[in-house]
Amino acid sequence: MPGQPGTLTAPAGAAQVTPARKTLLVVYHTMTGGTLQMARAAADGAAREPAIDVRLLHAAQAGPDDVLAADGMIFATPENLAAMSGLMKDFFDRSYYPVLDRINGRPYACLICAGSDGSNAARQIERICTGWRLRLVADALIVCTHAQTPEDILREKHIGPLDLERCADLGAAIGAGLAMGIY
Ligand SMILES: Cc1cc2nc3c(=O)[nH]c(=O)nc-3n(C[C@H](O)[C@H](O)[C@H](O)COP(=O)(O)O)c2cc1C
Repeated sequence: MPGQPGTLTAPAGAAQVTPARKTLLVVYHTMTGGTLQMARAAADGAAREPAIDVRLLHAAQAGPDDVLAADGMIFATPENLAAMSGLMKDFFDRSYYPVLDRINGRPYACLICAGSDGSNAARQIERICTGWRLRLVADALIVCTHAQTPEDILREKHIGPLDLERCADLGAAIGAGLAMGIY
């Protein structure tokens, strides 16, 4: 009961401290759906944190203003021809110089959907983000879909529940880190 002996109550007129809201930007591209499923899982994981606003944007819709407005970022791309996808690269090409030196130290991670490798797409993104002086807060999460034939490669992808859980856990960890202000 408020006011009873032994009960702690805020003094009358005391300011309520509301933690500042933080924004996590998830930028993705996909050809056959796999990366989108990964990006959505990560976004949903981050959104478990009440103080986090998550923005999930297709690479073609994302640009420098979105990057500037974000406290943290997740970049999600397929690996195509041993590289991040063309539209993902276009996002970085359009955004790189307008935000350079204005986002130093912000946390990021990347998700890669690949047939069998994915490491070069991750390396490319990490190199760009080193230039941006972002802070890598998790190893690149690579999911391999094991598509080998042209037919399988072009077929719609279905990412398994365990891999989606890994993506959700990554999103949740970044969301929690942002909310707690540990970055
Ligand atoms: C043109 C093309 C090139 C690809 N090159 C690679 C590659 O270099 N390394 C790899 O691991 N997978 C490669 N893949 C396979 C894709 O990464 C894989 O199908 C992945 O699931 C695509 O993600 P998405 O479903 O989000 O489009 C390629 C696929 C296409 C269509």
